[in-house]
Amino acid sequence: RDGYDFVVVSNRLPVDRDIDDKGESTWRRSPGGLVSALAPVMAKRDGAWVGWHGAPDETLEPFDHDVFHLVPVGLSELEVERYYEGFSNATLWPLYHDVIAPPEFHRTWWYAYRRVNERFARMAAETAAPGATVWVQDYQLQLVPRMLRKLRPDVTIGFFNHIPFPPTEIYSQLPWRKAVLEGLTGADLIGFQRPGDAQNFQRCVRKFLGVRFTNGAADFSEAAIADDAAAASSSEPGQETSGAGEQDTTWTVHAAAYPISIDVEAIRELASDPETKKRAKEIRQELGNPETIYLGVDRLDYTKGILHRIKAYGELLEDEKITVENSALIQVASPSRERVDSYIQLREQVEGMVGRINGQFDTMAHTAVRYLHHGYPFEEMVALYMAADVMLVTALRDGMNLVAKEYVAAKQDRSGALVLSEFTGAAEQLKQAILVNPHDIDGLKEAMLYARDMPGAEAKKRMSSMRRQVLTHDVVDWSQRFLEDLATYGQQSAGRE
Ligand code: G6P
Repeated sequence: RDGYDFVVVSNRLPVDRDIDDKGESTWRRSPGGLVSALAPVMAKRDGAWVGWHGAPDETLEPFDHDVFHLVPVGLSELEVERYYEGFSNATLWPLYHDVIAPPEFHRTWWYAYRRVNERFARMAAETAAPGATVWVQDYQLQLVPRMLRKLRPDVTIGFFNHIPFPPTEIYSQLPWRKAVLEGLTGADLIGFQRPGDAQNFQRCVRKFLGVRFTNGAADFSEAAIADDAAAASSSEPGQETSGAGEQDTTWTVHAAAYPISIDVEAIRELASDPETKKRAKEIRQELGNPETIYLGVDRLDYTKGILHRIKAYGELLEDEKITVENSALIQVASPSRERVDSYIQLREQVEGMVGRINGQFDTMAHTAVRYLHHGYPFEEMVALYMAADVMLVTALRDGMNLVAKEYVAAKQDRSGALVLSEFTGAAEQLKQAILVNPHDIDGLKEAMLYARDMPGAEAKKRMSSMRRQVLTHDVVDWSQRFLEDLATYGQQSAGRE
């Protein structure tokens, strides 16, 4: 065969591995909206997925699993340290999230990032059929679009940035700011979560590449970029430059917002299941039937504002606005990026704070904060959403925040209240949430009490309005909108050649 018509490229493959006692691997489809949204597209369009399988120093051959043809990309232990933990998660992640933690800039990390992006681009180039569509996902792979365009000028390339794109003033700190923008602008369409992210990106391109977007589109040419690359290569060893005299190609780059959403249907099914309903009731009983269950669900990440939320809760106990008898706080914090310094520090801070609060307020029968440092199956998460009276999403910066949308989708009886940080992409869509600035601890405390005490009619009205938004904009719509626009732009540029 001469390749696949639709290729998704992301840092992680859409499968997780279980290894049994005998060392045999079995694969399971990963949870999450992106994977559910793309599975039907994969099945229909003869698709393949290029990504890392999650284990260092291991090479795997391509294989099939449920609807996916999987093309594993291998990473060495050193590349995991420098490309994944380093450049992706200790440089780009904090930089793109408003420098909540200080980003580290190391040239060795950058070289690894470039090398690994080159490998993903080559794998994608080998996997794509003539004229195929390739959709690259997220900040770990920003150089892939342009590398791929060079290898395969015939394919249509989309890129979606799942996290925020920072304002120019912050983006400017990146020593490789031009190279990253050049990488991204190899795509025909670049999608962002919020219109503000698309604007930030366009301003950065104007400032650092000197190209102006008009109505969300701008023209690029290989020659202009090759000149830049040649100029930059003296300070960046290993940078490939395309030789002079190559034929010059031009293409149009579109940049716009495509706010991602969740797999509404999967949640609807689980939330209607009598088993899940039973489990939700059980959870309340296990907690000793408190009047109010507060819930936080996050990866243990410093962008999520977990400390702010727990601090506010501790102060409410201190102020005797709530008690351990009448209220419970469940904080699910799933382990994430556990070898990265700022994550190690955060874990110590969160666990220290939970320990102090529990030490002060727990009784023999009651615990103030239930801190759960592990992942749960999705069924249990939906049961938790159904049980929770108040959902706390207090991120300091978040591209979207799908937990907020999942909570809303799980509340079929329109009960419950959502306290939502204004610094999330979700806040632009869930306008009827109780919006908060998580840095304002007094404001957060007030919102937590307001959410509890809000008149029933107001709560139902807010939840109904948020449910209308979420139920009519699911992740399938999201992928369709993006892929339809990408197809249109791809045809336009093919027609020009
Ligand atoms: C965020 C990122 C994803 C990433 C996920 C989990 O949602 O946008 O690209 O996959 O976090 O992080 P991890 O580092 O474990 O892949």
